[in-house]
Amino acid sequence: MNRKSLISIGDFSKEEILHVLETAKEFEQNRSQKILDGKVIACIFFEPSTRTRLSFETAVNRLGAKVIGFSDATNTSVSKGETLKDTIKMVSNYVDMIIMRHPLEGSSRYASEVASVPVVNAGDGANQHPSQTLLDLYSIQKTQGTLENLTINMVGDLKYGRTTHSLLQAMSHFNPSFIFTAPDELKMPAEYKDFLTEKGIGFTETTSLEEHLDDCDILYMTRVQQERFTDPMEYEKVKDVYRLEASMLGNVKKNMKILHPLPRVGEIDQDVDDTPYAYYFKQAENGLYVRMAIIAYLLGYR
Ligand code: CP
Repeated sequence: MNRKSLISIGDFSKEEILHVLETAKEFEQNRSQKILDGKVIACIFFEPSTRTRLSFETAVNRLGAKVIGFSDATNTSVSKGETLKDTIKMVSNYVDMIIMRHPLEGSSRYASEVASVPVVNAGDGANQHPSQTLLDLYSIQKTQGTLENLTINMVGDLKYGRTTHSLLQAMSHFNPSFIFTAPDELKMPAEYKDFLTEKGIGFTETTSLEEHLDDCDILYMTRVQQERFTDPMEYEKVKDVYRLEASMLGNVKKNMKILHPLPRVGEIDQDVDDTPYAYYFKQAENGLYVRMAIIAYLLGYR
């Protein structure tokens, strides 16, 4: 793998994670720093995206680099049968960094092995979404004043939700405890629970959204990932399993914050938006500063 790629959150040490969060703070205070003048960065998205693609592209622009890429591979030679390997080799001849989203798990790791420039995984199937994790950590640190000793309640699709997998791994540096709220069909996969057990990190599992709402510092809501289901009937069974409403938040911790990687579909009622606990839109804004920090770090400018 290219040494300076970011494919899994495990590619960054605790020190690197904290360094990126510090740098993001700097970029939040000064949002336009043209330190990458003359660079070109490719954003190639084989799967739909709003926040990740637009915040990465904004980050590139605010850092003074130019952006090329596509948001729909059907308009590229992939539709003529060109392989991912050839596509990546070609694109890496043109640019200084590749930011890629792809539906196949492991595709970003593979891309980093054939590319001659750093690759950032902007989401590979149900596997990892490390830039989302760094912005989640930034949001947690900003709202809680620390990353240490927090209780994180992850809710919804813990089976396919790549953001929960990456966040769990990253938080393991900071002595967390976890509550996993999911229906049986969408439980946290065993490999991630084994990871926590090996590290001596505690977790509780429940199917009830109400059961642990009042116990957590961060309520991390997720969407049921329709695009990962092979059987539409299975999706229909679980798609509306949880719906958080403002009336359910009467006894939560005073500084509890609700995060969601977005997009939401039905799992957070709009009446939650006006409560002091809702943080998901600010969280998405934080993504800009964190993605500026990731790019600057990987290219050796911070
Ligand atoms: N959180 C996230 O990855 O959003 P998008 O799919 O809109 O990029």
